[in-house]
Amino acid sequence: MSAEHASSVRWISIVGARPQFVKLAPVCRAIEAHNSQPGSVPIEHSIIHTGQHYDRELAELFFSQMEIPEPRCNLAVGSGTHGTQIARMLERIEPLLATEKPDWVIIYGDTNSTLAGALLAARLRLPVAHVEAGCRSGDTEPEEQNRIVSDHLSRLLLAPSERAVENLKKEGLGREHDPQARRVAMVGDVMYDALLQNRQLAEKCVQRTLERFNLTSKQYYLLTIHRAENTDDVGRLRRILDAASALDLPVLFPVHPRTQQLLAASRASLNGSLRPVAPLGYLEMLAAEMHARKILTDSGGVQKDAFYLEVPCVTLRDKTEWPETVAVGANRIGGSTAESIRAAVAARHSQDWLTSVPYGDGTAAAKIVNELLVSSQN
Ligand code: UD1
Repeated sequence: MSAEHASSVRWISIVGARPQFVKLAPVCRAIEAHNSQPGSVPIEHSIIHTGQHYDRELAELFFSQMEIPEPRCNLAVGSGTHGTQIARMLERIEPLLATEKPDWVIIYGDTNSTLAGALLAARLRLPVAHVEAGCRSGDTEPEEQNRIVSDHLSRLLLAPSERAVENLKKEGLGREHDPQARRVAMVGDVMYDALLQNRQLAEKCVQRTLERFNLTSKQYYLLTIHRAENTDDVGRLRRILDAASALDLPVLFPVHPRTQQLLAASRASLNGSLRPVAPLGYLEMLAAEMHARKILTDSGGVQKDAFYLEVPCVTLRDKTEWPETVAVGANRIGGSTAESIRAAVAARHSQDWLTSVPYGDGTAAAKIVNELLVSSQN
């Protein structure tokens, strides 16, 4: 039914991993803002949490800090091999979508939860909208596979940048006369919305966060590593950690559970400059990011946080799906050898790169809600 004539519309968001909670939060706010407008078609929005992430620091804390509504259900898929994890998701999401038949299934980013949501919705012939569509790193890692498959199964592709739009067009998605009537819309980066909405709250956490870890503003580096490409190869993990532990300032290192499990096997030196700590909540993480001299990371979300907060970034991978940050000199590809990491950290980063932000204006979530409403009329 067209949104214009419907008495209400039903949307389901599928999330399960830490960065997806960050992307979901502004979308929930934008839906609330829409629903509070007199005369608007009410949006009934519910959240399916796959339970891919289940530790308090990686999941629950994000719901409370970002005031995300309670998920309708938590499928508790937990950890496992890719096959087991994705299979559990498929089995547990299917009856929910089949019964509910929402007007839109909304998926976010590039995790296994994204892939499972896309696959099932497409099989059930339900329209899928992909938030953060069109990002490409050009490698063969699980996240890139998830991005490509999810995009090709989606009907509405919500791109964070013009480059992402171009990537989709190159793959034939959203071209004129697309037989599957897919639509591509450049809405900007919803993580920019999240950051702008929480920046002031994060500033209130700065002093507490610095004191807690005994750090001085701009006199430390911040490190995160969790990608399978860096953690599952213990030699590579050791090289990265050894390079970080030899840096000239303390290195605050919130350790992801995946990385924690592999630390012992890596036999990396956890002394020197490294300061391993438990994963941080969203607000504490923003506070730690703001005051770092430089950020070293393999996370896509943290690369962009660094960019928006004007903190130089070194990406601990050979490629990134956020090439705009590299093009303007805000981000350097550090790879995974001691020399390449050291050189990237020592190199000068350009200044004032925020003169033009390629990821929209921080109102992506409102545009997403609008696109979903308009596209369901067609
Ligand atoms: C996933 C996403 C990645 C995203 C990241 C954010 C995929 C393929 N990868 O990676 O794109 O950037 O989330 O964090 O979906 N674990 C815990 N507690 C938890 C969660 C995970 O102990 O709450 C451990 C488990 O041993 C698990 C391992 O971490 O096997 C990896 O977790 P998984 O969800 O498979 O992938 P991430 O590395 O977190």
